[in-house]
Amino acid sequence: VALLTDSNVAASVLPKLNTDEIELPEGAMLKQITIAAGDSNKSISTAQDVWSELSNGKFTRRSLLINVGGGMVTDLGGFVAATFKRGIACVNISTTLLGAVDASIGGKTAVNFLGFKNEIGVFSDPVSTIISPSLFNTLPHAEMLSGMGETVKTALLDSPKFFNDVMNFARSECNFDSIPTDFITRSLDLKRRVVEEDPHEHGLRKCLNLGHTAGHAIESLLNSQQRGMPHGIDVAWGLAISLIISHTKLGLPTDTIYSYIKDFLSLYPPMPLSCNDYNALLELMSHDKKNPDPNHISFTLLSEIGKPVIDCFVSKDEITSAFDIFRDIAG
Ligand SMILES: NC(=O)c1ccc[n+]([C@@H]2O[C@H](COP(=O)([O-])OP(=O)(O)OC[C@H]3O[C@@H](n4cnc5c(N)ncnc54)[C@H](O)[C@@H]3O)[C@@H](O)[C@H]2O)c1
Ligand SMILES: [Zn+2]
Repeated sequence: VALLTDSNVAASVLPKLNTDEIELPEGAMLKQITIAAGDSNKSISTAQDVWSELSNGKFTRRSLLINVGGGMVTDLGGFVAATFKRGIACVNISTTLLGAVDASIGGKTAVNFLGFKNEIGVFSDPVSTIISPSLFNTLPHAEMLSGMGETVKTALLDSPKFFNDVMNFARSECNFDSIPTDFITRSLDLKRRVVEEDPHEHGLRKCLNLGHTAGHAIESLLNSQQRGMPHGIDVAWGLAISLIISHTKLGLPTDTIYSYIKDFLSLYPPMPLSCNDYNALLELMSHDKKNPDPNHISFTLLSEIGKPVIDCFVSKDEITSAFDIFRDIAG
């Protein structure tokens, strides 16, 4: 059995797991493999290091890889497991909220390549996923905000009930450092339903990209200025843009937008961008291969909470107006 983890998780989480006490099958050994933390290490060269450790350690097709970490470790470990000797079994133990609600199920594994996110990978499921929110206790606050960004996305896709529960929780003077466990199970239920219906993202699964068209552009721009934020925080801002465009194009009620920005996003840092950044943001969004032409950008929108509409084409003017409105409401 190999246990794959990253340097931060090895320091903060592994001591809590009592790995010495794991009961192994007769004759099996546990080997820990620790990779450097950070998404820049979700690379072919790190995958190669892990393949080498497995080969040199004489691991076989009957070996098991246990990935303990956030989405970075489970994506890379899932890819390594799916490819080593044409595939060995793996188990994911998610140690981040984002990893738990988003990366831990759905079968996508990948590494980044030539500067492109998740460029090389395969669809392959772990044999089991283990989530224990007590493992999130050591997560930095920004990583909890990031996980809540993807959680509220799922709530918006799921139902008014789930969305209102998240808004009520946000209003109750909380700071998201710990969250109700049922937010995780409800997010996983929604993701599982969507993935079962469209495992390879031909249609419905694109709804999980809600908030990501603007979110990815914000993420890339901030990263290029060396002031990047964890992914789910960019998604949380991107969701505000999607909700505003959903109102103008599909009539989503404005109280949803106000509640989202005033009650939920007020727990986040202010989006550090101004109208001077609009051209760069539009440029980044227009490069997406899903767009029909460079002047129309593809968004997932909502006609109502729980009713996503995929492949909506939005003009650059509509996008900049949405950023203006968002900055206006957020103050
Ligand atoms: N496969 C999918 O469907 C899917 C979905 C969403 C995201 N992803 C991928 O997941 C990655 C992002 O995942 P993430 O946000 O979990 O990032 P991450 O795995 O990089 O973890 C974020 C940071 O927290 C640290 N950390 C993890 N657990 C900790 C803990 N319990 N205590 C203290 N520190 C801890 C990590 O070392 C890292 O520094 C991206 O690579 C993204 O592409 C994949
Ligand atoms: Zn995301």
